[in-house]
Amino acid sequence: MINLGILISGRGSNMESILNFLKENAIADVCPKIVISSKPEVEGLKKATKFGIPTKVVSNNLKGWNYDKEIVNVLQKYEVNPENGLVCLAGYMRLLSPEFVRTYKMRIMNIHPSLLPSFPGLNSQKKALDYGVKVTGCSVHFVDEGLDSGPIIAQKHVIVSDNDTYETLSDRILEQEHILYPYCVKLFSERRLLVEGRKVVIT
Ligand code: GAR
Repeated sequence: MINLGILISGRGSNMESILNFLKENAIADVCPKIVISSKPEVEGLKKATKFGIPTKVVSNNLKGWNYDKEIVNVLQKYEVNPENGLVCLAGYMRLLSPEFVRTYKMRIMNIHPSLLPSFPGLNSQKKALDYGVKVTGCSVHFVDEGLDSGPIIAQKHVIVSDNDTYETLSDRILEQEHILYPYCVKLFSERRLLVEGRKVVIT
């Protein structure tokens, strides 16, 4: 059994896509245990409650590991442990400390709205538009100690059209995110992800 913890900071549509997928496909091996938000009163918290998943807000001025150890405490309280857990960052807008990453080594996933390693960090859709790329997309990767730099699990592409705005492009990327993230959680639950250095082999 894999115990799932999801970390959010806002709308939580990716969290919702994972929870819907788990509900509809009854993946027996994955149990969503807790949704933690770095911000109070965000839309994602209400969505999690509708699924009947416990929620917790960890919002304070602490930084680095001082903040993250509170997150780890909550995860472990809900049995999302380094041995049996998977932590999904779903629009979670904080950088993780090295201690957090090392505690859950190759057990933290993130979704990012670009074809990494292009356009890491914030506002990736705008960066892609400003750069003039013809193709962008989204990536799910394991989290390492860098910024959006961990081994890539899977990606989906989105064609950029000449009249795309930030909103239209973001919406089309988001549609693909909602397909990609549950797929990666499923692969993890089937123990089909083999990390070899920078490469993730899907067995
Ligand atoms: C998503 O587009 C996600 O890829 C992005 O934030 C949005 C969250 O939406 N994440 C990042 O930019 C992380 N660097 P959601 O809250 O509706 O899932």
